Amino acid sequence: MRRKLLMGNWKMNKTIAEAKEFALASKQLSEYAKKHNVDLGVAPVYLGLSTVLEANPNLIVAAQNVNEHEKGAYTGEISIPMLQELGVTWSLVGHSERRTYYNESDEACNAKIKALIAAGMVPLYCVGETLEQFEAGATKAVVKEQLYVGLNDLTAGDVKNLVVAYEPVWSIGTGKNASKEIAQDVCGYIRKLLRDKFGDIADEIRILYGGSVKPNNVKQYLGQPDIDGALVGGASLAVESYEELLKNIVE
Ligand code: 13P
Repeated sequence: MRRKLLMGNWKMNKTIAEAKEFALASKQLSEYAKKHNVDLGVAPVYLGLSTVLEANPNLIVAAQNVNEHEKGAYTGEISIPMLQELGVTWSLVGHSERRTYYNESDEACNAKIKALIAAGMVPLYCVGETLEQFEAGATKAVVKEQLYVGLNDLTAGDVKNLVVAYEPVWSIGTGKNASKEIAQDVCGYIRKLLRDKFGDIADEIRILYGGSVKPNNVKQYLGQPDIDGALVGGASLAVESYEELLKNIVE
């Protein structure tokens, strides 16, 4: 049985003080989530990671990106041992904004995912097609390529803690969330690809939908057989709407 997961991706939002305020205000929510078998997390900017962990140790705290090298001449980058020193155990990989603005390729994502897994961390791998690809009917081909290249050279044992997020680029920050039918169709396809590649462990891998998820539309996704949670941007920033998201998932 896969546990439900609600992850907030704060992107480049919240100062350290604001992140702390949110983390303290979400303490009761974490208790509530635990009681209802939902995993609850956020991905702050690097600067906010330890503050959030300290203020609310019951939240899953994920980095938004990571470098695959342990150390060295990579100006501006953060390594896995640096995250682990803070107690961070999760990282997003391949978010569409990183693919679009920082040219992250599927091969680069693969290197990050392999390094995270080797270090015992949880990669949350984001995949999804652009509007142009969606309109050309290429969604599944795009997702297949992202998944196969991104997860190249890994075994079933390696991917047991992996989380995959399907985030159609055209739905991110646009208010145009994918219908529950589209989201289930693609998430079901992702599970099939995972099964083809890794076998029955696919049934244990959590798959999230992301893209304009709001308190008033989150429930429909969680009702789908292959959607285990949501990766939420804008609606995860205010603790009130984060709480509403959680309550709508539980009820
Ligand atoms: P929005 O929920 O703001 O559309 O962002 C989705 C997203 O990119 C989460 O990673």
